[in-house]
Amino acid sequence: MHYFSYRDARLHAEDVDLDSLAAKVGTPFYCYSSATLERHYKVFTDAFAGREMLLCYALKANSNQSVIATLARLGAGADIVSGGELERALAAGIPGERIVFSGVGKTRAEMAEALKAGILCFNVESEAELAALSEVAIGLGRRAPVSIRVNPDVDAKTHQKISTGRSATKFGIPISRARQVYAEAARLPGIAITGVDMHIGSQITDMAPFENAVALLAELARDLMAAGHKLKHMDLGGGLGVPYAASDPVPPEPEVYARVVEEALGGLDLPLVFEMGRMIVANAGILVTRVLYVKQGEGKTFVIVDAAMNDLIRPTLYEAHHDIVPVAEPRPEAALKVVDVVGPVCETGDFLALDRPLPEVKAGDLLAVMTAGAYGAVQAGVYNTRPLVPEVLVKEATAVVVRPRIPAQELIARDRLAPWL
Ligand code: LLP
Repeated sequence: MHYFSYRDARLHAEDVDLDSLAAKVGTPFYCYSSATLERHYKVFTDAFAGREMLLCYALKANSNQSVIATLARLGAGADIVSGGELERALAAGIPGERIVFSGVGKTRAEMAEALKAGILCFNVESEAELAALSEVAIGLGRRAPVSIRVNPDVDAKTHQKISTGRSATKFGIPISRARQVYAEAARLPGIAITGVDMHIGSQITDMAPFENAVALLAELARDLMAAGHKLKHMDLGGGLGVPYAASDPVPPEPEVYARVVEEALGGLDLPLVFEMGRMIVANAGILVTRVLYVKQGEGKTFVIVDAAMNDLIRPTLYEAHHDIVPVAEPRPEAALKVVDVVGPVCETGDFLALDRPLPEVKAGDLLAVMTAGAYGAVQAGVYNTRPLVPEVLVKEATAVVVRPRIPAQELIARDRLAPWL
C-alpha cells in the first residue's frame, strides 16, 4: 500500500504532481512519501499491539535524515551498522536507548562512540568482537549490553546476495555453539548479556524458514534463562519482503508475520526488537527519470533514460525487478512494446529493466521506477562522474528537496592535484 497514484492522468506522490516536481527539481530524482512511511511503521507496530516491542528501523535501507526523522517522531528506534549510521540516528533524534548496533566488523572507535551514546544493545557476531568490546567498555568504565547474533543455519529462500542465515555466510555465531559463547561472554568483565539476536536475510516472502529460526532462537533463549542469563529482549532481525512485481510471491502481511512470530515463540514473553528496513521504505519511494532517446537496435528497442545503474544498482546487482510506469497515465488501450530501459553509463550491465513491456514512450517522457525507496539512494554513487542523485520528501501537497543533487563541480573539488602536477 502506497500513496503514489494517477490523478488527472498524471502520477502524483500524495498531492504532488510529479510532472511539475520534475520540472522544478530536474531528473533523475528519488521521491519519498511521508504518509507511506508513516503507514508502514504503524501497520507493523499495530500488528504487535499488546506485546512489548521496539521497531529499530534499519538505517541502511534509506538513511536520509528526513526519512529517519519521520520515523523517529513515531517512536522508531534504529538498527545501525556503522559509526556513520550512529551519528545519523542520533542527529535525527533517536535516543541511544533505542539503538541496536549490528554488523560483523565494528571498529573499536565505533564501539566506544556507541557506548558513550548509551545504546540499547550490541549485536555481536564473533568471539573476537566480544573480547574487543569488553576491553573497550572496561576502558570507558562501562559494561556493554550485548546480544549474540545467532546463525540458525536456515535458508531464507531469498536472493543469494541478501541471504544471511546459512552457516556458509559470514554472519553470526552458529547456533550449535551459541550456549558456549554466551557462557564465555558472561565471564567477560566488560560485557552485560541482555538479549538474543538473529537476522536470516532480506526480502523474505516464505515464512517457513523464518518461523523455524524464531523457534530455534526461542529455544535458545529459554535455555539461556534457565542457565541464569538475564535476557531483556529478543531481536528477530528484519527481512520482511515487499511486493516488487505482480508475478512475485506475495509477502505476508504484518499481521500474518506477527502471528507466525507469536506461534514460534510458544508463549515466551520477552520484549521483541525488530530491524525492519525494506518493508518500511521500499514502497514509500520511487525514482523519477526522463527518457533521453528511444533507439531501435537489431531486434531490440532501447529506451535510454537519464537514470542509470549508479543511481539504482538493484536491477543489475540482484537481477531485481522494479515496475516502471509512465508519469503521464497511459490510455487503457495503449499497446505495449517490449523494451530494455537503460541508462547512459558505459556498461552493458547498466539497465533498469530488460525485456519489459511498456506503453510506447518518446524522448522527454517521464518514467517512475517504483518500489525504489529501500536500497536505492543509499546505494547510489557517482560512477562516470554523474551528479549524485537528489532526494525529495513529500508530505501531502508539499515537496522538499531533502538532499540536493551534488554536481560534478563539487565532486571535482573534493579531489586534490598532487604537487608535481
Ligand atoms: N538487520 C540486519 C542485521 C541486516 O543485515 C539487514 C539487511 C536488516 C536488518 C534489514 O533488512 P530488511 O528489513 O531491509 O530486509 N541491498 C540489498 C539488501 C541488503 C540487506 C542487508 N541487510 C537489496 O537492495 O536488496
